[in-house]
This record gives sequence, structure tokens and C-alpha cells, in this order.
Amino acid sequence: MSANIAELEKRRAGAKMGGGQRRIDAQHAKGKLTARERLEVLLDEDSFEEMDLYVEHDCIDFGMQEQKIPGDGVVTGSGTINGRLVYVFSQDFTVFGGSLSARHAQKICKVMDAALKVGAPVIGLNDSGGARIQEGVASLGGYADVFQKNVLASGVIPQLSLIMGPCAGGAVYSPAMTDFIFMVKDSSYMFVTGPDVVKTVTNEVVTQEELGGAITHSSKTSVSDLALENDIEALLAAREFIDFLPASNRDEVPERPNADPWDRLEPSLDTIIPPSANQPYDMHEVIRKTLDEGEFFEIQPLHAGNILCGFGRIEGKTVGIVANQPMVLAGVLDINASKKAARFVRFCDAFNIPIITFVDVPGFLPGTDQEHNGIIKHGAKLLFAYGEATVPKITVITRKAYGGAYDVMASKHLRGDLNYAWPTAEIAVMGAKGAVEIIFRGLDADGIAAKTKEYEDRFANPFVAASRGYIDEVIYPQSTRKRIALGLRKLRNKNLENPWKKHDNIPL
Ligand code: HXC
Repeated sequence: MSANIAELEKRRAGAKMGGGQRRIDAQHAKGKLTARERLEVLLDEDSFEEMDLYVEHDCIDFGMQEQKIPGDGVVTGSGTINGRLVYVFSQDFTVFGGSLSARHAQKICKVMDAALKVGAPVIGLNDSGGARIQEGVASLGGYADVFQKNVLASGVIPQLSLIMGPCAGGAVYSPAMTDFIFMVKDSSYMFVTGPDVVKTVTNEVVTQEELGGAITHSSKTSVSDLALENDIEALLAAREFIDFLPASNRDEVPERPNADPWDRLEPSLDTIIPPSANQPYDMHEVIRKTLDEGEFFEIQPLHAGNILCGFGRIEGKTVGIVANQPMVLAGVLDINASKKAARFVRFCDAFNIPIITFVDVPGFLPGTDQEHNGIIKHGAKLLFAYGEATVPKITVITRKAYGGAYDVMASKHLRGDLNYAWPTAEIAVMGAKGAVEIIFRGLDADGIAAKTKEYEDRFANPFVAASRGYIDEVIYPQSTRKRIALGLRKLRNKNLENPWKKHDNIPL
């Protein structure tokens, strides 16, 4: 071996030890993988090509000139997932706690630039103590550079963040601007200020987990889309997830052929709607029976369960699913459900992913809590998102489509391309009893019952809407998959553009 090659090998081996064996052991003792081990799980075998292995910080304060570790706390480069190109950065907690220096930020920006240039997703594995304290403002500037890249990349390439350790201060805002966040239970947390500062300022005593752990952010705040058990589960979920996404906004949705017949009938759907309008059923079943091989990748399953969002495939091609869930709060639209679905619809629209909407919605949730917290503004987000979306939109009303929520849920009036209803659909301003009590105020109980029956006979069906052309066809529930597959084939070359604008002004 020549001396040059030997030198290269020595440098590579040294750099790959990060902060040294003691810190690697400490990382393992916390149940965490190292930055490089994580990339091995995330990427196809031997596909990782590293960049900037020898980058070092240039800080000369606090004795930092004596402490230089090649790579400076973040491993960056590209690789493939099931053969498709992705760019990655993986913060190395064994090097200065994965904290972000100016050079560390520069490496992340370089990867993002490379991904933007060719149109490929960026996956960030975050495990960082935040701004590199010794560097001061240089580190803050580095964060801002990353934030700016996140903004410019938004809607151009998919950005996925995995939170696999601490994420404090500035470290939370870059993930927050990416499209999806997956967190690892018990070992990851995100907060702007940690429990100590919280105690000092507000006197509240709270654990890291309660303040910003995976469950808090996946159920309460919706900052996170999924909470996974450990590093390996999170990385495997990311592999599965990225398979659904196009590489960029100029790319087609990926295709993963499978053996599920496109025209498979599901007779069990003909009887899934219970006899009583107040009885729930599980919308997951409708979704699974419609999608290829029953595979549904649900996001935010622990937050706003009254609406379901996630990805699946029809004829091997990705579709986005939005569905009211009668099992939770009768599928009502509230603030959280509106925000959750609006963001999902916008992601699908940005990345050319057709949207399939299953509707069973009794309306918007009434009450002072909702009104005073801005259901008008938040409900408008979903209305706006559906209204601006130009991707193929196919809607299936399975049961209730009442009031404003009928309009919102990808109705014909919001440029739904194909609007189907099951024979069990009820499309009306509100439920029959409520309607009668308003328009026939003062009637006795018998009178109310009679008028309720009359209202039900008139409106508790899909045919009034169909007679106006608001519903394209009343379909057999068992044929739902087939009708959607046929519809998507027809809509493959859909070409619809909104008027030119700099950008819209969605009610934030
Ligand atoms: C430099 C850091 C560091 C940091 C940790 N380290 N955070 N070095 N800058 N921000 C180093 C430690 O000195 C230590 O070095 C090693 O990383 C591991 O840290 P430990 O504290 O031993 O680990 P642990 O007990 O697991 O605690 C992890 C931690 C804690 C919770 C992240 O280190 C911590 O609270 N760090 C500070 C967090 C913080 O306040 N960051 C600044 C946020 S402000 P050795 O040599 O011992 O291994 C911010 C502003 C940006 O980010 C705003 C932009 C908008």
C-alpha cells in the first residue's frame, strides 16, 4: 500500500470514530445508534457516499482550536432507498453533542443544495444539543442558513426529519419546517426551552418527556407525525415512507407494482354502514379494502383521530387518503382535524399526489371552545387547501355529508374531479331532527317525528345531490376500488392551473 493510500485510510478510520469509543459506548448505553449506524439501517447496503468527511470547525474560543474532530458532528452525503436517490445528514451526538457549528451548518446546506439541484428528498437524522455554545453568533447564523434552505426546498423536494435524540432551541425549527417529523419514544425530545428554563420562568415542574417527548408531540401538539419505539423502527419506517413519495415536485409519483387486481370487488363494503345513523364503523376498514394489498401508511394516528390521513397505492401508484372517522367524535370536523388534513392536502398537491377523500361527516364541532379558538380560521384552512389543489381529486361519500363540511370535503364545488356517493349517503344541510326542530319550531313531539320522517325521506339519500350533478354517480360500495382505479387512469393527464400569483394567502 502506498503511503498516500495509507494516510487516506488512517484519516478515514479516525474520522469514523467520531467523538471516540467512550462516547460511542455512552450513545449505545442510551439505546441509541450512532450517526453512521443509523445511515446503515436507513440506506440500501453499500449505497452511502459521504461528503465533507474532513470538514472541521474554525472556532478558536474556549480552547476549541485544540479540539477538532473531522466531520464536525454531522455525517452528510447521499445514498439510495430501494434504489431511489436520497440525500441525508445524520448528526453525531458523540462530537460536541451533535451541536451545530457554522461548518456543521454549511455541510447540511451543501447536502440540501445538492438535493435541490437534482430533485431528490432530504432526510435529516437529528440528534443535537442545539447551537454550538462556544461559537456564539456564528452558530446562530448557521441555523438561519439551514432554515432558509428549508424554506426554499419546501414544496420542491420532500423533506423528512427523524428526531433521534435531544432537539433543543434552534434545533427544533429546522425540523418544524420540513414536511414530516418522526420521533423516537423515550430517547428524543423537542422543545424551544427545556424543563429547567420552564421552571425558572413559569415555576412549572415538567419532565423532558412530558414537555416535548415523542408521545406529547404525536398526540397533543401534532408537531410530530409518528412516534416509533426505537431507532431501528424509526429508520425502517422512514424507508417505507419515502417509497410513497415522488423525488421532487417535477417528478411523477413512484410506482411499486403489486399483484392486487385493480378491479377487485369488496362485497363486505355493501353492508359496512350500520342500520342506525348514530352507529359508528371503522373507516380504516373502508380505506384498507380500497388500497392495494390493504397497505395504508397513516400519519398522525394519535392526533385528531376524527380525521384519517395517510398514503397508500392504487394500481401501484401513490395516492393520499383523507377520511372522516366515525369512530372518533362521530367524524366531526374540529380545529385539530381541519389543520391536520389541510397540511396533508397541501403536501399532496405540492407533490402531484392524487387525493382520495372518504366522507362521513356530521358537520363542524359546535361550542365556545371551538369558536373561541378559531374554528372559523382553522376550518378555512382545509377549505382553502382543497380549493387550491389541482391534483386529481376523487371523493366518495359513504354516509353523512352535512352542512359546510359537505362543501369542505373535496366536494364537486371545490373542483372535485369525480364525486361518488354510496347509496347510504345523506347529503343535507344538517341531520333530519335538528333541521326539523329549526324550521318547524313549536311543533309537538308527534309533529316533529312526522316532519323528521319527511325530511329524511327527502334528503337522507344521495339522489337529490345527484339530480343536480353534484354527485357524478351513485356507486355500489363493493366497486369502490375499481371505480377509483378507473378514475385515476382517466385523470392521469389532468391539466389544471390556478391563476398566476406570487403565492396565496391561506388563513394561517
Ligand atoms: C457545545 C455541547 C452542546 C452545545 C452538548 N454539548 N450541547 N457542546 N454546544 N450546545 C456537549 C457537552 O459539553 C458534552 O461534551 C457532550 O455534548 C454531551 O453532552 P452531555 O450534557 O454530557 O449529554 P446529556 O447529559 O445527554 O445532555 C444532552 C443535552 C445537554 C440535554 C443536549 O448537553 C444540554 O442541555 N445541552 C445544551 C442545550 C442547549 O441549551 N443548547 C443551546 C440551545 S440555544 P463532552 O465533551 O462532555 O462529551 C439554541 C439557539 C439557536 O440552539 C437559535 C436559532 C434560532
